[in-house]
Amino acid sequence: MIIIKTPSEVAKIREAGRVVARALRMMTEAIVPNESTTLDLDKVAREVMRRAGASSAFFGYQPPHQPPYPGWTCISVNEEVVHGIPGDRVLRDGDIVGLDVGVVLNWFYADAATTVPVGKVKPEAQRLLEVSQKALEMGIEQARAGNHVEDIGCAIQRYSKKHGYSVVKEMVGHGVGKKLHEEPQVANFGTPGQGALLRAGMTIAIEPMVNIGRAEIRALDDHWTIVTADCSLSAHFEHTILVTDGEPMILTQEE
Ligand code: MF3
Ligand code: CO
Repeated sequence: MIIIKTPSEVAKIREAGRVVARALRMMTEAIVPNESTTLDLDKVAREVMRRAGASSAFFGYQPPHQPPYPGWTCISVNEEVVHGIPGDRVLRDGDIVGLDVGVVLNWFYADAATTVPVGKVKPEAQRLLEVSQKALEMGIEQARAGNHVEDIGCAIQRYSKKHGYSVVKEMVGHGVGKKLHEEPQVANFGTPGQGALLRAGMTIAIEPMVNIGRAEIRALDDHWTIVTADCSLSAHFEHTILVTDGEPMILTQEE
């Protein structure tokens, strides 16, 4: 069952989304190439959440057969796709770093991610960031009442493929709001007109994971960090959006 949110519920998700957006911006601004560690950035996000009276939607999160997630945020560098655990790794000039933040505020959840350059990156990395961000926009564009869930993934995959990239198949976007993960699952590929009918009041997290090389992934021994199987660069962008009868509304922004 896909939950339709009331306007007052949407307002609470948007409040959580503001904190998410602020944390992502503050983390990005805190990056000092060859100096900042991923744990430094996690602490920046922790402080933003604390000041807002929010908490991490990720800390302690435990899917079946996995240890509880130990960080406040997920920070994934270069060939790491998602779910990198913050630690003592120093961000180097030329890296790309994925920042993924989910918060719960007044019992409501929002979730977003971005991938940013550390210092000066190679043109091929810059292009991956631009295409992946645009792929998210193409997906969001399809999140309208009357469309179907797979229209979103289809647009994301089509755009990524057109630029020679692949999308990760095993990890998906999701409904979000009363919980971190709700129905429906939102894959980053699909067939037009397939999947659940989208209706006004649905809130979903759309999150393309785009690889320069092959689509296959594997998990590291920490049981969390997902990397590309061929070690190619990967980028991740995510927004929590509201489906309306008109334009899709992004709930994870500061304004
Ligand atoms: N943004 C990711 C998601 O939506 C991160 C959750 S995994 C966690 O699934 F363990 F960090 F919570
Ligand atoms: Co998510």
